[in-house]
Amino acid sequence: MKKLNIALIGFGTAGRGFYEAWQQIGTARFNIHGVAVKDGEKVRNGLHVNVTTDVLALINDPAVDVVVEATGNVKEAKLWYEATIKNRQLFVTANKQLVSQLSGFGNQNLLYEASCGGALPIVRLLETCFPHGISSIRGVLNGSTNYILTRIFVDGFSFNDGLLIAKEAGFVEADERLDLDGGDPATKLRILCRHAFGIRLHADDVSVFPLFGFNDVDVKFIRRNNLAVRYIATAALDEGKVVARVAPELVAEEHPFAKVLNEENAVSIIDKGGESYFFKAKGAGKQPTGTALFNDLEAWSQGFRYKKRKLAKAKSSPEISEVIVRTVVDFRDQLTAETIESWIEGGFRFYRLRCYLHELAQIAVVESGEACVFVLSKELSRQRFKPESVLSIEH
Ligand code: HSE
Repeated sequence: MKKLNIALIGFGTAGRGFYEAWQQIGTARFNIHGVAVKDGEKVRNGLHVNVTTDVLALINDPAVDVVVEATGNVKEAKLWYEATIKNRQLFVTANKQLVSQLSGFGNQNLLYEASCGGALPIVRLLETCFPHGISSIRGVLNGSTNYILTRIFVDGFSFNDGLLIAKEAGFVEADERLDLDGGDPATKLRILCRHAFGIRLHADDVSVFPLFGFNDVDVKFIRRNNLAVRYIATAALDEGKVVARVAPELVAEEHPFAKVLNEENAVSIIDKGGESYFFKAKGAGKQPTGTALFNDLEAWSQGFRYKKRKLAKAKSSPEISEVIVRTVVDFRDQLTAETIESWIEGGFRFYRLRCYLHELAQIAVVESGEACVFVLSKELSRQRFKPESVLSIEH
């Protein structure tokens, strides 16, 4: 059988990871025809195929069957993708920004498992394993921040030291704010929502709460209470609407999310039949991303394609108010029951306040899924609102 000819675009963490996966397991069926890089002069140890800086010339080479894009560059990657449509080539990408911007769905020449969850084959799972439909999806979708949280809470490192090591390991985006402010997991969540719910969310449809630093008091308190902090992306169907957010949350130490460590990612799914599922794998870095890119080639060779379907427009829930949680974060040290009451009087509607303690005001998260344990709304009497006594944790 003829070997498929691959053009590899990019030789950073993901590109090198793909190249190494190919060297280990792919040379019998796939040939790397060439690698396109930005800097043609840079010495790249272990790279033994043709290198070029002319990406389009490589893609348009008639010998190329498959383009594996591993750059993270959105604007140019769109042009490369368009070229592959014209050339009838397969386009495999790890580029979540690009994927989230493509309006077509189920394009038959496009696979992007590596864009979400690293080695976790979550897109394929969503496509193939939930015939009842999905009612909610929750996940640790960012390896860098999970790595930092592990270093802080397991090893006692500072946030900045954790970030530094995560950078050295190649987990962090070129623009680190994408990881730390939640843009990266939010983009992944939007991609997953297409496959889970057939719904297209725009960036504004996801409430995103940045990860923040933790001081010694926070760390001690969280440990003492057998809790863990995880940066969790959630999307759930709620009366026909999708509620989507990314936020730091507290989970009990024995919760499966608490056992997601280092750069691991995990996804928990509840289907419409009420069954729950949990998946975990390494979510960032050379090997997981490279393997995910390689796996798309395998899947495609076996006839796998994303389903063609028309995406519905987002119907996101207005109840989750970014302002509320942002304000909670800002008010961290001075937050009092009176402050919150004044917000309520001012019209804020706390839908469900998952967790609130004065030490942990910054971790307050509004929840609208079934797991909620404490509900506050304008209608509730003030007497029922005793923030200092409320600690509700997902088990
Ligand atoms: N910066 C991303 C992360 C890389 O930390 O998860 C993998 O998508």
